[in-house]
Formats: sequence, structure tokens, C-alpha cells
Amino acid sequence: MAGVTNVAFRTLCRRSGGGLYVSEMVGARGLVEGNATSTLKAAFGPHEDPRSIQLYTVEARETRAAVHLLTGGAAAAGRHPVDHIDLNFGCPAPKVTRHGGGAALPWRTDLFADIVAAAVDAAGDVPVTVKLRIGIDDSHHTYLAAGRIAADLGVAGVALHARTAQQRYGPPAAWEHIAALVDALEVPVLGNGDIWEARDALRMQAETGCAGVVIGRGCLGRPWLFGELHAAFAGEPIPSAPDLGAVVALLREHAALLTAHLGEDTGLREFRKHTGWYLQGFPVGREVRRALNQVSTRAELDHHLAGLDPRLPFDEGVRRQPRGHTTRPKHVQLPTGWLDRGHHGSTPPPTTHPVVSGG
Ligand SMILES: Cc1cc2nc3c(=O)[nH]c(=O)nc-3n(C[C@H](O)[C@H](O)[C@H](O)COP(=O)(O)O)c2cc1C
Repeated sequence: MAGVTNVAFRTLCRRSGGGLYVSEMVGARGLVEGNATSTLKAAFGPHEDPRSIQLYTVEARETRAAVHLLTGGAAAAGRHPVDHIDLNFGCPAPKVTRHGGGAALPWRTDLFADIVAAAVDAAGDVPVTVKLRIGIDDSHHTYLAAGRIAADLGVAGVALHARTAQQRYGPPAAWEHIAALVDALEVPVLGNGDIWEARDALRMQAETGCAGVVIGRGCLGRPWLFGELHAAFAGEPIPSAPDLGAVVALLREHAALLTAHLGEDTGLREFRKHTGWYLQGFPVGREVRRALNQVSTRAELDHHLAGLDPRLPFDEGVRRQPRGHTTRPKHVQLPTGWLDRGHHGSTPPPTTHPVVSGG
């Protein structure tokens, strides 16, 4: 997740074992051009194993070059060899779809196939996966055709976020599309959308037959969710949620890791959003929340955290409250004529909803 799953947060999540902890989305072009921000986003800690990166890309040549860099072609030059590459075709942000990227791209099946083929070819033995949404909107589904193309081209798996780009993060994820993709493909399908607690993961697997699940907002402020998932999949008792004392320890450690990675200034600016997620459900008061949301030094952070009652229990009632993106459905911005240029096999019959394009 962009701005979240950097090396600092992954370090906390990885402690729970299991799982494949993927980097935030990194632009292929920035990586190829040696852009400092992209390079930082692609950084891994010395103990991270396996190393998994998500690339954002809109062009086959750049994809090939980025994948070459990542898979060891330039390892001697100290770049970032990785063990897994995921390609992002799910981002609904206007700044991305406006250029035909993210969730808009699979509509252009020719371009999608070129990019995936370039990635799989350049990656060699390193597995490549793709992450899709259902489509652009309910009149323009893309996942079945794109999933089949990707599987034919040799991807190791396909992850489906069961919403359209138009739906953003609003309505409940439509897991039936995950089941449809499982039926359509030979390769493993990973399901994504609305996994807030371990039993959601088990239910998704039971209802859809997916090979695994992808965690989104459920882990924001809760890196320990992965321990719960690990236990649930192993058929073991789910560990109880941490009390405020343990959460405060996580906050401190997260801040320390982020500032070590990004410096105190940027690190704490990036950290502020996490404080609200960690403290969701704990009755710490508006003043403390506001102060934590403005911290600019570690000393300030420690000062505000020191006053909190470590014995406060986690409020199970907030488990399913969305955090991070809560944006409601919104028309998808696309390059002019984008929908006319697609040649797609899985478009459902037109509905009465207008499809907005352009801009
Ligand atoms: C802050 C934030 C950043 C995200 N960044 C990415 C990203 O970089 N790559 C990606 O594939 N999905 C990204 N997502 C989407 C999630 O991975 C996931 O697909 C989505 O939240 C749906 O799952 P959920 O309903 O369980 O949250 C992001 C989501 C949030 C909330």
C-alpha cells in the first residue's frame, strides 16, 4: 500500500510470520531513471526474505528495463534484486487512470498483454503476479479477460480486488467475482477486499475457493493482524488483540523505524496518519489524537504517548471500521477515447449508467 507498506511497516508485520509482504507501489519509470524517491520505496531491510515489490507501469519497454534491474541483471551495481514482482493494475486514483494506468489499463488488452509479457520474460525465474480490479465500472469489466491473458503469459498468480475503479473503496467487495476468476483460471487466484479480521479470510477462502488472500486496510494500525491470520489458517486459537500498552510500544517502534528510514522530519510526517489508525477505538481523547497527528519529533511523540493508560483493552467493536481510504464511488477519469480503443471480451451488457471518459 502506497505510503504504508515501506520497510518500516513491513518489519513490524513480518514478525507475525507467514505471508508475502509486498512493497508499496513503485513506478517503473522512476526506478529505471534512478529517481531517489522510487529507489527509496524499493528499498528492503537486510533481513527481509522474500523480497517482494509492486511495480506501477504503463509501458512494456520500461517494464522490461525495471524488471531487469530488480531481478539481478544489475545486482553487482547494488540495485534491488527481488524474489517476487507484482504489477499494479488496480489503482483507481485519477492521476493514474487519467493516463490510462492502474485499473484503466487492462481495458486495453493489447497493451496489458505487452506489459505482462515483457515482465514475465525479463523476470526469468522470478515469479510475476498481477493485481486487478473487477474493471473500470460495472459496464466495463476487465478481470476475466485480463486474468486469462496474464495466466496464458505465465504469471504465477492473479490477485483480484473485488471492486471496480468507479467503486473506489466504498461498497462491500463483491467476492463472487473472485469465485468466477478462480473458476476461469488454472493459476492461483488471491482474493482481496474487506478482510478486516481473520475469520473474513477463512470465509473468503471458503466462499470463493481462492488460493490466498490479500490484506489491504485491515492491517492499517494493526500489524498484528497477520499473526491472527497465521493462527486462523493453521487452525490454531487466535491470539488476543494487544492492549494499549502493547499498541503504544508498536507506535514507538514504528516511529523509530520510519525515522531511521526517512529521517526524523519526513519520517514523522509520514508517521502521523498511522497514529489515528493505531489508536482507533481506544478512548484517548481528542486532544491526544490531535497532538499525535501533528508530532514533529520523537521526543514529542514519547511525551504524548507517556500519558496513556497501558491497561486499556482493544475495543473489538472497531474491528470492521474502515481506515485509510473511505472514498465513495466516483466517475473514473480516463484518457480521451480510451473506452473506444479497448477491444474487450468480457464487457457485460450496457446498463443505464453513463460511462464517463475523458479528462
Ligand atoms: C492507503 C492505501 C494505499 C494503497 N496503495 C496500494 C498500492 O500501492 N498498491 C495496491 O495494489 N493497492 C493499494 N491499495 C489498495 C489495497 O491494497 C486493497 O486492494 C484495497 O484497500 C482493498 O482491500 P480492503 O477492502 O481489504 O482494504 C491501497 C489502499 C490504501 C488504503
